[in-house]
Amino acid sequence: MTEHNRKEPFEGHKRLEKNVTLLAAATFVTVAIGGVVEIAPLFWIDNTIEKVEGMRPYTPLEQAGRDIYIREGCYVCHSQMIRPFRDEVERYGHYSLAAESMYDHPFQWGSKRTGPDLARVGGRYSDAWHVQHLKAPRSVVPQSIMPNYSFLAETDLKVPDPSATLTALKRVGVPYSDIDIQMAPKDLMAQADPEADAGDLAARYPKAQIRDYDGDPSRVTEMDALVAYLQMLGTLVDVNSAAAQEALAEEKGR
Ligand code: HEC
Repeated sequence: MTEHNRKEPFEGHKRLEKNVTLLAAATFVTVAIGGVVEIAPLFWIDNTIEKVEGMRPYTPLEQAGRDIYIREGCYVCHSQMIRPFRDEVERYGHYSLAAESMYDHPFQWGSKRTGPDLARVGGRYSDAWHVQHLKAPRSVVPQSIMPNYSFLAETDLKVPDPSATLTALKRVGVPYSDIDIQMAPKDLMAQADPEADAGDLAARYPKAQIRDYDGDPSRVTEMDALVAYLQMLGTLVDVNSAAAQEALAEEKGR
């Protein structure tokens, strides 16, 4: 092979490298192709999160508990996303599905775990355990470094405008119905009071647990709301059902 022949194929590239304008234009075209391949499909698929049976918006009481959870900074020590690793799954249960946090604004996945992950804590302990643990963590777990939150049991639950909370969430995509919004103030109190008429609360919010959570049926406290929220976490989606398994397979394939 002669010297001349070997150089021939590189002539075009040399011109590209020596001409800044041409190089910039070619770079732009190359990057744009990559961008289109990544972004364009998003306009044709309906949703990036697979809908999973059982997932529903939070009840006004659970939502109020969630707001207290955020206000008190529980997320500073607790995550709510079980990663798909064997050690996590053995400790906390089935790994979290994307759909399980689809109504979270803002989401609580977190990456800081001074305490355990709480994504599936619902139903793991009794209400009485949670109340005692929140009031005085060291009375049930002697080595605990979690702060005391006893004031929650002494503070009446006050949500300035439960309907407005739901309306705001609806604006960012949580599918509350008009009846949910209208009934929010009543739903909020009825879920924590077994004596109250909860109406069709359980029909509009499947698997909603209606009971007195804090052991004081005479009033609805912030403790009621927070424990209602904790007891709901991870209980809405039956991760072993056929539909959930199907969604899982699709999530994996993506
Ligand atoms: C300073 C860090 C810290 C903060 C803040 C904190 N926790 Fe904890 N939490 C822990 C630790 C550590 C444990 C494990 C020991 C124990 O059970 O007390 C724990 C355990 C728990 C458990 C039991 C979980 C299980 O699976 O055993 C729950 C429920 C819980 N915390 C809820 C909360 C809530 C609700 C808040 C906010 C009101 C909160 N924590 C704030 C550190 C914290």
